[in-house]
Amino acid sequence: MLPVKTLTDLKGWRAGLLWFPQAQQPQARHASDGLLVTAREADGVVRIQAIGPFRELAPHYPDLPITHWPGLCIAPGFVDLHIHYPQTDVIGSPAEGLLPWLEHYTFPHEKQFTDPAYAHEVTSFFLDELMRHGVTTALCFATVHPESVDAFMAEAQKRHLRMVTGKVLQDRHSPDGLRDTDTDLSLRQTEELIQRWHGVDRLGYAITPRFAPTSSNAQLHGAGEIAQQFPDVWIQSHVAENLDEIRWVQELFPEARSYLDVYDRAALLRQRSVYAHCIHLDEADRQRMSEVGAAAAISPTSNLFLGSGFFDYAASDAAALKYGLASDVGGGTSFSPFHTMHAAYTVARQSAGRPGISLAPEHLWWQHTAGAAAALDLAGTVGNLLPGCEADFVVLNPQATPLLARRTAQTETLAEWLFAMIVLGDERLIACTVVQGHIAWAAGISDNRA
Ligand code: GUN
Ligand code: ZN
Repeated sequence: MLPVKTLTDLKGWRAGLLWFPQAQQPQARHASDGLLVTAREADGVVRIQAIGPFRELAPHYPDLPITHWPGLCIAPGFVDLHIHYPQTDVIGSPAEGLLPWLEHYTFPHEKQFTDPAYAHEVTSFFLDELMRHGVTTALCFATVHPESVDAFMAEAQKRHLRMVTGKVLQDRHSPDGLRDTDTDLSLRQTEELIQRWHGVDRLGYAITPRFAPTSSNAQLHGAGEIAQQFPDVWIQSHVAENLDEIRWVQELFPEARSYLDVYDRAALLRQRSVYAHCIHLDEADRQRMSEVGAAAAISPTSNLFLGSGFFDYAASDAAALKYGLASDVGGGTSFSPFHTMHAAYTVARQSAGRPGISLAPEHLWWQHTAGAAAALDLAGTVGNLLPGCEADFVVLNPQATPLLARRTAQTETLAEWLFAMIVLGDERLIACTVVQGHIAWAAGISDNRA
């Protein structure tokens, strides 16, 4: 428990604490007056050294400089399992479902990211927005343009963030300016970007075929070969989101057993692969994902907005499928993890064809923190406050609005308190976001040392 000599920048953070004692389990622990100890380790990364009730832990750290935030609560930084930074300005574009939405708004908009200056400007705004909402790690789509990856990685690196992104692969059924005109080149660009960015500081690369309809078989199989060559690189795509999309995939890939099977045949289904939506899967699909360790990114605000359908929690749990929550901005309507958790609750109440389930608030919170980290194969690295985790966290202010203050004051259990914040919360609840032990964004509070 005592700090070892190689640690520098040892800091204490005193406030309420919320964390998950077992990263893989959705049971939370809360300490009303807690102490979190962080320090920079020999590799330059700031990690959590200890967590617990202040009274028990403080005597072990006699000279610790402590930031004290009475009345506030430190919780893990949120992890967004699927988001598109180039769609920041597409949020709220109405359409008759996924395919018209892509054609009329999203594809034309994404063409602009060939311009590095534009990509930097949007990335900066996007990362600031993530900070305001307490999201400290995201698995993010860029666009087809390699420049869009360079801009995102450079801005994330400047902010010391743990972020994962990749150049979108799409070599057909896409407009000029948003299509890989040379499939081999698109695969070489992917390899070059992996070499340039994967594992640099806290950055990771994701091989990113947009979705089966916009990639040729050659591109999908080429992506699968790269995935085998780089097993610790991520894979991200979309699957089984919308019924028209699924019919199109059946026409394009008649040899495949299912939409998911298209990716499986291309060796794109494995540990560290994350598939957005996973709404219209069948049992064999869920079993297969579970067997190989692939994960689902549940995107409830997007699924409600585009009318795509409802993620089936019961069937996914029965198959032991890994999953976590995602905003899916710009199909999704909000950057806010509170809005996403609230929407996930609403969706689970509606499970088609059987009685809805009531997801526990701790479970919802876990899906957007430690659970999402586990789905990314980053359990014990982000999304939690256990010793060894990287020091990215949020500071919640349950008094942020008159209604939140009134409602949270009347709760008696941890579940009630969390649920009040999930239902009533938005970015005003985030008093402060800390990245690598430094305040990255704050709404009027500082690290007032006690
Ligand atoms: N399927 C293919 N591309 C997209 C996208 O950008 N957003 C969503 N929601 N689904 C997709
Ligand atoms: Zn998406």
